[in-house]
Amino acid sequence: MAIKSDAAKIKEAMENSEEIVEVAEESEKKATKKTTKKVEKEEKKLTLMDLPGVGPGAVAKLEAAGIFDLMGLAVLTPPSLSDMAGMGEAAARKAIQAARQMMDLGFSDGLAFAEKRKEILYITTGSKNLDNLLGGKGIQTKSITEAFGAFGSGKTQLALSIAVGVQLPEEQGGANGKAVYIDTEGTFRPERVRQFAEGIGANSDKVLKNILVARAFNSDHQMLLLEKISEMIKDGEPIRLLIVDSLTAHFRAEFSGRGQLADRQQKLNRYLHNLMRLAEQHNLAVYVTNQVMSNPAQMFGDPTKAVGGNIVGHACTYRMYIRRGKKDSRVAKLIDSPDLPDNETVFMIEGDGLKDIAI
Ligand code: GTP
Ligand code: MG
Repeated sequence: MAIKSDAAKIKEAMENSEEIVEVAEESEKKATKKTTKKVEKEEKKLTLMDLPGVGPGAVAKLEAAGIFDLMGLAVLTPPSLSDMAGMGEAAARKAIQAARQMMDLGFSDGLAFAEKRKEILYITTGSKNLDNLLGGKGIQTKSITEAFGAFGSGKTQLALSIAVGVQLPEEQGGANGKAVYIDTEGTFRPERVRQFAEGIGANSDKVLKNILVARAFNSDHQMLLLEKISEMIKDGEPIRLLIVDSLTAHFRAEFSGRGQLADRQQKLNRYLHNLMRLAEQHNLAVYVTNQVMSNPAQMFGDPTKAVGGNIVGHACTYRMYIRRGKKDSRVAKLIDSPDLPDNETVFMIEGDGLKDIAI
């Protein structure tokens, strides 16, 4: 009896499995189609090894210096490539020219440009008012957003809030990714992240695991950490947000004399360029905080201005000035945006997140 029923079971299973096989075959066909498409795509993806004069040794050196792909190499100058890869300058020039040709680094028409802009992802700040100030959906990828203001104005609180927000799915205002937090001042607070996570009903352990924190001990270290980020992305980490809190503190402390100002600005400029390159190459949102210094020459209004001067001002796509307002509120003012009106809004910092108040 048992045998018979087993046989019946097997028969039944076979009949069913035929259906499964059909479905499987169908999906297999689709999958092969997909993989051939993928292979075709992958075949087109050229690597550093495809460049003339660039062998495995040079690739290893370049990777150690944070250059992983053609785009990274195409934007170098021959002397810096020659330094990094230990090759002659003529060979470096040739490799750069080849990379530029392969990359098609030229002009694109407005429509193609608009098409590229569609890749942009947005990250909610938690406050609708603040999201609206920034164009409706919060901070965006492929740009640098800077918040500057006095101590206690809320720059770090905003950083922690978006480090949580980035992890939300796109339909909930996030970018479905992880955050990297470069902490130069030792002010990253996991307990605050937990409160923000619980505020939106998320598992706080999971949220903390998706924030990769590094303490930067000086400006060189701060530079070096950027190279690590390309490496992590290459290893498959879905990083969508990079926070540098604070952008300028180390630079300001290390180059404090008047005679060092030019050096400081040059280094800061290079750092900002690297940030922008990361943002564009990997579709990341970059959020940086910046201090203010008093400007005794100003007699009316708020006598403060951002550290770093024009270099920071020009490199950041969106600049926001945050200050304390009435009744413990915060006032955020957008300055010099390429596509948004200069505007002002109000929000609150509360235990479980950034909140709106009526304006
Ligand atoms: P610096 O880094 O010193 O330049 O300042 P910052 O702009 O980064 O200040 P930060 O974002 O750390 O803001 C600190 C302020 O946030 C505090 O003075 C509080 O007003 C507020 N804050 C911090 N934690 C909490 C909290 O748990 N609950 C509430 N309600 N407010 C908080
Ligand atoms: Mg801070």
